[in-house]
Amino acid sequence: MKIAIDGPAGAGKSTVAQQVAKRLGILYVDTGAMYRAVTLTALVRGCSIEDEHSLREMLDAIDLMLEIKNGVQHVYVDDKDVSEAIRSREVTRHVSTVAAYPLVRERLVDMQRRIASHKDVVMDGRDIGTSVLPDAEVKIFLTASIEERARRRMEEFEKKGVHADYAELLRDIEERDRKDSKRAIAPLKQAEDAIRLDTTGRSIDEVVDRIVTLYREKIGER
Ligand code: DC
Repeated sequence: MKIAIDGPAGAGKSTVAQQVAKRLGILYVDTGAMYRAVTLTALVRGCSIEDEHSLREMLDAIDLMLEIKNGVQHVYVDDKDVSEAIRSREVTRHVSTVAAYPLVRERLVDMQRRIASHKDVVMDGRDIGTSVLPDAEVKIFLTASIEERARRRMEEFEKKGVHADYAELLRDIEERDRKDSKRAIAPLKQAEDAIRLDTTGRSIDEVVDRIVTLYREKIGER
């Protein structure tokens, strides 16, 4: 059984997906973290993100790995844990550009399908229900108003003791959504058979409960 959770930046996908996976005792895969790890590596190695050829060389040379520790996904590049570093502002600003390259998507989608091929999984991203796992039994499109999404991001930063500017966060989210929805390959889009859940004003528990119920109903049908 597969659960695909897609949606725009800051809709709560990772928090919800992680908790759904925990409740059901199945694997959680955060695909955004994979695009972020590639972006971070390109930035750290001074490889131009405007140049597909140098990105290809970098992709050929790196070893990207995911591991779950205490229910939380960790991302490694060449055995180095980059799980914190991939959340930086710099990575967030450039990730949509890197994620638009066909070659980057091809590599990462391949890896995502391999992970899901022999396991039950909750996978979150932008194109999971439409492209990576089109046969997923449960497909969710998670949204929230842009103001709420920016507010949540702001709270995340504040919890980490980092100052963030609300207007700037709002602009960054808008820009990322625009790029992710407009790209040629596998853009952010609700799958026809996905259930749309608006999380504005709803608690995480409420949303998690709904998805777990949908999953159990599907299992019951089999
Ligand atoms: O979910 P996130 O914010 O960590 O994702 C970071 C970026 O990665 C997002 O802006 C677009 C890209 N992405 C993608 O293109 N396809 C996915 N399945 C997941 C993320």
